[in-house]
Amino acid sequence: MLTSSINNTTRLQLAPLKIPTRLLLGPGPSNAHPAVLQAMNTPPVGHLDPAFLGLMDEIQTLLRYVWQTENPLTIAVSGTGTAAMEATIANVTEPGDVVLVGVNGYFGNRLVDMAGRYGADVRTITKPWGQVFALDELRTALETHRPAILALVNAETSTGARQPLEGVGDLCREFDCLLLVDTVTSLGGVPLFLDEWKVDLAYSCSQKGLGCPPGASPFTMSPRAVEKMQQRRTKVANWYLDMTLLSKYWGQERTYHHTAPINLYYALREALRLIAEEGIENCWMRHQKNVEYLWEGLEDLGLTMHVEREFRLPTLTTVCIPEGLDGKVIARQVLMEHNIEIGGGLGELAGKVWRVGLMGFNSRPESVDRLLEALRQVLAK
Ligand SMILES: Cc1ncc(COP(=O)(O)O)c(C=O)c1O
Repeated sequence: MLTSSINNTTRLQLAPLKIPTRLLLGPGPSNAHPAVLQAMNTPPVGHLDPAFLGLMDEIQTLLRYVWQTENPLTIAVSGTGTAAMEATIANVTEPGDVVLVGVNGYFGNRLVDMAGRYGADVRTITKPWGQVFALDELRTALETHRPAILALVNAETSTGARQPLEGVGDLCREFDCLLLVDTVTSLGGVPLFLDEWKVDLAYSCSQKGLGCPPGASPFTMSPRAVEKMQQRRTKVANWYLDMTLLSKYWGQERTYHHTAPINLYYALREALRLIAEEGIENCWMRHQKNVEYLWEGLEDLGLTMHVEREFRLPTLTTVCIPEGLDGKVIARQVLMEHNIEIGGGLGELAGKVWRVGLMGFNSRPESVDRLLEALRQVLAK
């Protein structure tokens, strides 16, 4: 025993950190903008320092802008997109609540699992991976299940499909239910009008369309959703993500809740500032233009896309792996020989597609050119 404890105290010698510089064109993370990385290097202040509290206010204002919402309760959760996802479910779900989830990919299933863990009576409406729900299908499902919450994934990263949201909020109001939307792969890259579309709860991440490292995740709740939270019979079953507590840190009271990851918030603020400077509409248009350039180039290489053009995401494209090719081997060669990351398929689409992300800072013609050239060389072999 003594020997082993002595061994544990000997010094460990490791070389200083050395990580290759990659072009991250997978499903995320994507490369952060250099100015964002620079902002992240700013020395931290205390999490209750007036300078930091001012920055939190700015993050709230900027998040409302990129999401096109006036929701007072709009914050960044300290954690990745999954934490913000769990925050939406945890705050409005009470045991027995009927939660209807649209499942047309991997992340719909994650919502199902999560809602079940908070005691919801979870129902699902399903579609093959790569397809989306039409309004009349959602209406029928709402009539059948009469849920308290309808949850949809706006940008299904596992399939590359964009779930249209126009009209869904009105439907939800008609059936007196809340609309919860995953915008992890859409925020910053896909047009979103949360208030106009009557979305009640939404969450996202920092590492995709916002062009920031992962770890500080946008979250918003409409006054309707806040009302449901305030009328809870039970406490929110997750202390860390409880908005009745967190809103006191982000709101007037400034009550200590947790030690915010200060530098990540510096980065998020810079990432959002850059988007505001570009203009959110210009940012959406840039994503659309560059993805169309990518699709054209992929088609020239003889490749086809998994999703019908009308519903393809501008941020994430699923490319069918041609018969007889091992997609993993190709992706590995693209990574090791060209320093470019692309993703493989998830779940049902494993081995069938590559997932190519063009998000945030990476949505540029140069990224497309580099990837097309790498694919051309690797496929030629
Ligand atoms: C649609 C969607 N939802 C949720 C998540 C979870 O986010 P994170 O990996 O940041 O926790 C992801 C991650 O890729 C996603 O694509």
